[in-house]
Amino acid sequence: MKAKEGVLDRLNDLLSAELTSINQFFLHAEMCRSWGYERLCEKIRARSVDEMKDAEELVKHILYLEGKPSMTLGKLTVGESVPDQFQVDLKLETDMLNRLRESITHCAKVGDYTTRSILERMIEDEESHIDWIETQLDTIKQVGLQNYLAEQIRKD
Ligand SMILES: [Fe+2]
Ligand SMILES: [Fe+2]
Repeated sequence: MKAKEGVLDRLNDLLSAELTSINQFFLHAEMCRSWGYERLCEKIRARSVDEMKDAEELVKHILYLEGKPSMTLGKLTVGESVPDQFQVDLKLETDMLNRLRESITHCAKVGDYTTRSILERMIEDEESHIDWIETQLDTIKQVGLQNYLAEQIRKD
């Protein structure tokens, strides 16, 4: 099926952002593991896997629309502490949410309802990711960083 105007460009931009997220979160997860925060590592790793599923869906859909998936990675921002990691990840997730919103509006405008519904499903995921990170930052504020980190040592 041929894509409507501007849809493939947007899908490729989203793909690139997902690939960036996969790598950034994966690295953050392993940094947490190396600091001894096994429990936190598993949570961040799960978020990386979620983004991998999104990337897979985007690649499939771009091919379905007879486009060429561009597997270009954006620039990673590495957080050197747990709160820093949360801040930079939150930024990436929020950027993704804004991109998705813009793309959904565009798809509606050009009448691509299939792509729109795929992206609408993705938005739910990104909102839950943002919610999770915001909750962690709130918890750190409430109980203090040391207490928060002490809870991240054991495995669930
Ligand atoms: Fe995603
Ligand atoms: Fe996400």
